[in-house]
Amino acid sequence: MDKVQEILKNLKQNHIIEYMKTLSHSEIEKLNEQLERLDLSVININGKEEKRGKFSPLLAVTLDEITHNKEKFTDIGLDAIRKRKIGAILLAGGQGSRLGFEKPKGAFNIGVNREIYIFECLINNLLEVTEKAGVYVPLFVMTSIENNQETKDFFREHNYFGYSKENIWFFVQEQLPAVDTDGKLMLAEKDRILTAPNGNGGWYASMEKTGMLEIVRDLGIEWLNVFAVDNVLQRIADPCFIGAVIDSGKVSGAKVVAKAAPDEKVGVLCLEDNKPSIVEYYEMTEEMLKSRQSDGTLSYNYGVILNYLFRVDKLNSTLSVKLPLHRAFKKVKYMDTSENVHNPEEPNAYKFETLALDMVKLQENCLAYEVDRRKEFAPVKNKKGIDSVESARELLKLNGIEL
Ligand code: UTP
Repeated sequence: MDKVQEILKNLKQNHIIEYMKTLSHSEIEKLNEQLERLDLSVININGKEEKRGKFSPLLAVTLDEITHNKEKFTDIGLDAIRKRKIGAILLAGGQGSRLGFEKPKGAFNIGVNREIYIFECLINNLLEVTEKAGVYVPLFVMTSIENNQETKDFFREHNYFGYSKENIWFFVQEQLPAVDTDGKLMLAEKDRILTAPNGNGGWYASMEKTGMLEIVRDLGIEWLNVFAVDNVLQRIADPCFIGAVIDSGKVSGAKVVAKAAPDEKVGVLCLEDNKPSIVEYYEMTEEMLKSRQSDGTLSYNYGVILNYLFRVDKLNSTLSVKLPLHRAFKKVKYMDTSENVHNPEEPNAYKFETLALDMVKLQENCLAYEVDRRKEFAPVKNKKGIDSVESARELLKLNGIEL
């Protein structure tokens, strides 16, 4: 028995060994090659959450405090941008399965009477800053094997939405196998195991593997602003945010929004064993959910919106740390061993993902920076309802963006 077969057998993946018997020599070789490269050990992860430490509240710099210091923070931020110390990372490797859009999520047209794409909204927001600063912010776009070419083509066909092509780099994140509800490997094609992007926490490690960190070093970038593709109101390289974090002397910052209600289902920035951390809504006790500060605000009040600022030297020291892998149950197109292709309507497979929020836990401290959700938080996750195309359109209109 060869090495790959032995590994498959140990992992109770005999269905793949059996299936391989039906394939041609060249197909077996291709499958073997892929299996040798893949980290198959992840499929044993059962998704049981890691043991958590002691939580305590982390208060945010509030909207009022920010307004009061706006000029000072903005000046500090613009100065750092002008000195080219700030880089931006667009996380666009996700599969957007909830939206059910075949192309890269950023290529989605959020317009109604005209075409305006998600990528375009983000670049427009960034251009507002670069025009003010008079320099471009180096922008790194994380894609996946699946959407890399399409993403690059889309940017090129749209002339980089007016951004400077010389200041954009694309890099591909890594893949991990996905499994069905019985923990079994699945097929993507006749001679290819189904894999999925390894989550948004892998961005810094992927930047290293793809040579992007050399560019970061060569350009002298000291801070990286990492953000999700699907918040169309996102402020990128926001000078006021950058300035507030630098001024605070902290090594990282997170944009947060006040919860709409005490039981809103968002991850909340807090302290865990005195280190910055994010507690998920389902991990909070009744007491934590209800607890209030002396001024009446909720103690666990500030939800994260996937817009973080990290100091590069501190990120370097996290490269050797393995981030925890989480299981996410998602809709995934696959081929069964009789070679029928299925495009399920409901979640059918577990993906294994590292999360950007786990990088926050590796930082000594983090500035929670409050933003107005009506101005900066319009996530496009679903087709309809909450965090949907519809709700994002309403918020875009509210902010004067013509659709
Ligand atoms: P989500 O957690 O919403 O995942 O991503 P998703 O894959 O885009 O969407 P669903 O859950 O299948 O509907 C949050 C952000 O992280 C990025 C996404 O592109 C988005 O900006 N992401 C997610 C990656 O870059 N890589 C990943 O592996 C996962």
